[in-house]
Amino acid sequence: MVQIEIGKSDGRPVYLDVWRDLISYGLSIFGKRRSGKTYLVGLICEKLSEINQPFIVIDVMGNYYTLKEKYPVIVASVGERSYADLPNITPEMARTLARAIVEARQSCIVDLSEARMLEQYEFLVEFLEEFYEACKHEKKPIILIIDEIHRLVPEKSTARLKELADLIKKVTYWVTDIARTGGNHGIGYIIAGQREAETAKTVITQSEVQIYFRMSGADIKYLAGRLTKETLDKLPSLETGEAVLVADEEEIFFKVGERRTTPAGRTPDLVLEPGKLKKVDISRLRKIMQKLERAEARPKPKQITPEYEELKKKIAQMQQKIHELTIERDTVIEEMEIRIEQLKVENSRLRKENESLKAKLQGVSVEAYKEEIEDLNRRIATLEGKIKEYKEQLAEASRLEDELERIRQAAKNLADDIIDFVDVLGLDVIPQDTIEMKKRLEELEQKLRIYETTEKERRLRVEETLNKIGVKERVRGMRVFLERLKLKSGVFPKILKQVIVLDPSVKIRPEDVEAEVTVETRRKYLKDLARMGLLIEDNGKFRNGLSLWVTNSIRKIDPSAPDEAIDKIVEELIRLVVS
Ligand SMILES: Nc1ncnc2c1ncn2[C@@H]1O[C@H](COP(=O)(O)OP(=O)(O)O)[C@@H](O)[C@H]1O
Ligand SMILES: [Mg+2]
Repeated sequence: MVQIEIGKSDGRPVYLDVWRDLISYGLSIFGKRRSGKTYLVGLICEKLSEINQPFIVIDVMGNYYTLKEKYPVIVASVGERSYADLPNITPEMARTLARAIVEARQSCIVDLSEARMLEQYEFLVEFLEEFYEACKHEKKPIILIIDEIHRLVPEKSTARLKELADLIKKVTYWVTDIARTGGNHGIGYIIAGQREAETAKTVITQSEVQIYFRMSGADIKYLAGRLTKETLDKLPSLETGEAVLVADEEEIFFKVGERRTTPAGRTPDLVLEPGKLKKVDISRLRKIMQKLERAEARPKPKQITPEYEELKKKIAQMQQKIHELTIERDTVIEEMEIRIEQLKVENSRLRKENESLKAKLQGVSVEAYKEEIEDLNRRIATLEGKIKEYKEQLAEASRLEDELERIRQAAKNLADDIIDFVDVLGLDVIPQDTIEMKKRLEELEQKLRIYETTEKERRLRVEETLNKIGVKERVRGMRVFLERLKLKSGVFPKILKQVIVLDPSVKIRPEDVEAEVTVETRRKYLKDLARMGLLIEDNGKFRNGLSLWVTNSIRKIDPSAPDEAIDKIVEELIRLVVS
């Protein structure tokens, strides 16, 4: 039984059991902004490092790199980050990275703080799926940690761009899957977020251990029935760093233990010098990544028309703008909260000063100190006035936040969102040409609709083609032919599998083919394949001819068969051969 201490309850240590609480059960942490969630998750990471238990943190805020002050954790950042060991990781590299860190059993922070929203999801879809597969294969415990889960896996997504919405769905799917069945493969699971109500239910219901930090009205209502009334009543007045642990029907209030590394918040004053961070040797990891990259000859992504790509990019930019505005708003609120905290501290210091002065004065002539006392009282009054003022501003900010939520849901499209932002918030961060942007967006969306309509028609035509009796029969014939080749004895099938997946523009020589026979024999087999039409011979080199072979064959029956239908057949045949 391996346990980590996360804090104290009435002087007694409070533990989490790594295997039971994190791997078998799963832990979710919720609480208001700045209530101490990230601090605790960072503490858990420190403790896991100390017992050599590998973990992966999905970090959208750039809050976790400071662990490198003391622990051999690597930071892989999507986008440039000065502190990253592996900066500028792209979604294309996500799978290799996932596999390599699982294989190397290397704790890793995946820092997405510099990535655009679309890119974050593009990365995560690939990363999480491969991470899961790799863990199933590796069968050694590793813990997946996701902070700001309500942002990444929302209960209701407001994404308008279909591509983004689809990606969010996929990420939600993978997180849910890992949460649900990951335990069987040794994957531990920790999520932290602000509001349960806004987080996809499927990812919360999987965790059987919960920690709740400070919470306010609506969120407590959401918990009603799950916790005792006494506990619920205490939640609003918890101090930062105080929380309740709920496990096995028990509710234990505790104070989070102290961290050994600097807790990075979104407070702008913290920028650590890279020199203070531990250097981790990543050569082994790089080697594994290179090995994996070589082994992986992934088929190229499908061509999409440039115009469609352009449209998608434009809409993604709009989405990004909203994303940035939301963060900007959060930061403003957060700064105000920090200021209130500071003022409270100063206020209580002054009160103490006043008290001690009063105590000193017992028996002494009050007159002599009268002025000082008055001065102190004045300062306290001013400070209290300021606190009140900031609190009002904060209330106003919350009101704006609600308003923003309302707009978001009511708005029919992305562009309207932006316009409403301007109206309601009167922010000057909005570009002057918003109206222009809106018009342009409408035009673009119109075009997109037209494009999607023609897309639909095209798909219909593809379906029709594939369902034609003659085409079906021809495909069956090709299938039987390839099945037979696949079952041949010797290295022939092995060679077939290698060449059939090649991009048709790539030329190979017999030397490039892997098979335990002489180059001459390899050439003979390649020539055989060329005779059948599956390869095209060109000056002693060979290209993949499958696509041409299929095209000729199908167009003989249906001269107007669309390219996409042919592509589909080609893909199906490739799958058949390589499976
Ligand atoms: N247990 C704690 N002890 C000391 N400071 C803490 C503790 N928990 C949080 N803080 C501080 O309070 C602020 C907010 O904490 P953070 O963990 O970032 O909140 P959250 O993740 O809930 O938004 C940070 O400046 C952090 O350093
Ligand atoms: Mg946080």
